[in-house]
Amino acid sequence: MQNALHLSDEEFKLISGLVYDRFGINLGEHKRALVMARLHKVLHKGGFSNFKEYYEYVVRDTSGHALLTLIDRISTNHTFFFREQEHFDFFKEVALAQIVEALRKSGKSDLRIWCAGCASGEEPYTLAMILSNYFNDDFSDLDIGILATDISVTALNKAADGVYKADKLREVPSWYKQRYFIPLKDGHLAVKQEIKEIILFRRLNLVRNEYPFKGQFHTIFCRNVMIYFDNATRQALVERFHRYLAPDGYLIIGHSESIDRSLGYFKRVRPSIYQKT
Ligand SMILES: C[S@@+](CC[C@H](N)C(=O)[O-])C[C@H]1O[C@@H](n2cnc3c(N)ncnc32)[C@H](O)[C@@H]1O
Repeated sequence: MQNALHLSDEEFKLISGLVYDRFGINLGEHKRALVMARLHKVLHKGGFSNFKEYYEYVVRDTSGHALLTLIDRISTNHTFFFREQEHFDFFKEVALAQIVEALRKSGKSDLRIWCAGCASGEEPYTLAMILSNYFNDDFSDLDIGILATDISVTALNKAADGVYKADKLREVPSWYKQRYFIPLKDGHLAVKQEIKEIILFRRLNLVRNEYPFKGQFHTIFCRNVMIYFDNATRQALVERFHRYLAPDGYLIIGHSESIDRSLGYFKRVRPSIYQKT
């Protein structure tokens, strides 16, 4: 058992300040024990004798790798398939029909969805299965794509693998399980290639002024991500989401989250579901 290193007030300030500056994540005093526990192994592995030494190393590292490891350890990637099911019901029963009608009217064929903060992939895979099922596996007159982004490389690697423990699929309807997963010998389940092909996984820090996208999205899912940000970061993000959403596009956030509608960017359609105005 390694000796626990003490995280002083000054060190906690330095590390939480860096995480806030670079990623918008607000680590309040109540997160001190979490920071200590999550960075403990990194410090021991790197042979650092205290948190200040580690902080200085991260700031000096021009390759950006140290910062990546830091955010990988700090970010909370909890997620599961069909999480907050009402959002997927709304998407399937209301949003999709509207999007497809608008596309057909305008003679366009690109249907674009963005999962911002996709963690280990359960959310975009749920959406891809819903889309595949909705179109009866026939995407012939539409070009459908889901962009799934996150800051954590570890989470994104897991997402791109698309292999999950059986108990992770608790909420997946059995019909979907049979149709879209391959059981592996070790008891895990692998997402089928045809579903994987709908999704593009990319690393993206949501806390930046511009995103490298050419077009707009018909729906943006950003669920259980903004809870980690403070108000100013959240507002700036909502303003950017508005910019990157197609006219009448939907922004779907986590059940426990809300956005400031006084900004005038969105109207609330249902709890945690907003439409671009
Ligand atoms: C709790 S998970 C949410 C996963 C999924 N959206 C859901 O609702 O189940 C939050 C995710 O947000 C990501 N995240 C936190 N800060 C971020 C940032 N600045 N840029 C991009 N992703 C970020 C984390 O890495 C984590 O995977």
